[in-house]
Amino acid sequence: MTAPIIRLRDVNKTYDTSGTARPALAGLDLEVRAGEALAVLGRSGSGKSTLLNLIAGLDRPSTGSVTVDGVAVHKLGEAALAGYRRARIGMVFQFFNLLDDLTVEDNVLLPAQLSGVSRARARARAAELMDRLGVARHARTFPALLSGGERQRVAVARALMNRPPLLLADEPTGALDTASAADVRSLLGELNAEGQTILLVTHDTALAGACATRTIELLDGVLHRDTLRAGAAR
Ligand SMILES: Nc1ncnc2c1ncn2[C@@H]1O[C@H](COP(=O)(O)OP(=O)(O)O)[C@@H](O)[C@H]1O
Ligand SMILES: [Mg+2]
Repeated sequence: MTAPIIRLRDVNKTYDTSGTARPALAGLDLEVRAGEALAVLGRSGSGKSTLLNLIAGLDRPSTGSVTVDGVAVHKLGEAALAGYRRARIGMVFQFFNLLDDLTVEDNVLLPAQLSGVSRARARARAAELMDRLGVARHARTFPALLSGGERQRVAVARALMNRPPLLLADEPTGALDTASAADVRSLLGELNAEGQTILLVTHDTALAGACATRTIELLDGVLHRDTLRAGAAR
C-alpha cells in the first residue's frame, strides 16, 4: 500500500469571518492514493470547489492540514504556492480558461515556460501531448476557433505539460455538448488507466461512472458517502 498522495486532516473552511455563516467545509478528513480517480459529487454549495481549491493551493483552510505529494500546502507562502502549483498540479476548468490571444501550442507551452524549461524540450513535449490528445492539427489555431470539446482537450494538454503527479478538474464536462462530454469522459478514463491520479468535481454522474475508481459525496461541507468502485485496486 502506497502513502496517500493527498491527505486532509480535520479541515475547516469558513469564508465568513464574522462566524455566522455555516462553514464551506467542516472537519473534513480525506486520503487519496496515487493512481486513484476520485470523483467528488454533491449538490451546489456543498463545498466541492472549496475542497479542490484547497488541494490546488488556490485558497487556504481556516484550520486543519492539507498535504499533497509530501508538501504541507497549508503552510506555504504565496511564492512557494505558485511553485507548488506549477510543479505538482494540473488543473482543468469548466470554461477551459485558455488564453484566447495565444495559439493552441502557446497555451500548451505556458506551464513549461513558467517553469523555465528550454524552448526545445517544451516544444517536443507540447507536440507529443497535442498529438496524444488529437489537437495537433490545431497547433497554430486560436482557441476561439475550436469546439468546446477540442478546447477542453487543449486545456488537458496544458494541464499535463509539466507531468503533474495530480490532475484536478472542476466540472470538466459542465460546458460541453453531449458528444464532447463523452469524449472528455473517455479521455480522463484513459489517462487514469495510464496511471494518472485524478481528482474531479462534478455534477455529472455519467462522468463519475465512466472514469472514477472511487466516489465521495459532500453534503453541507461534510463527507457524506465514500464509495470504492467494485474491483478497483487500492
Ligand atoms: N469566495 C467565497 N466567498 C464566500 N463564500 C463562498 C466563496 N466560495 C464559496 N463560498 C460558499 O461556500 C459554500 C461552498 O461553496 P463551493 O465550494 O463553491 O460549493 P460547490 O462547488 O459544491 O458548489 C457555499 O455556501 C458558497 O456560497
Ligand atoms: Mg463548484
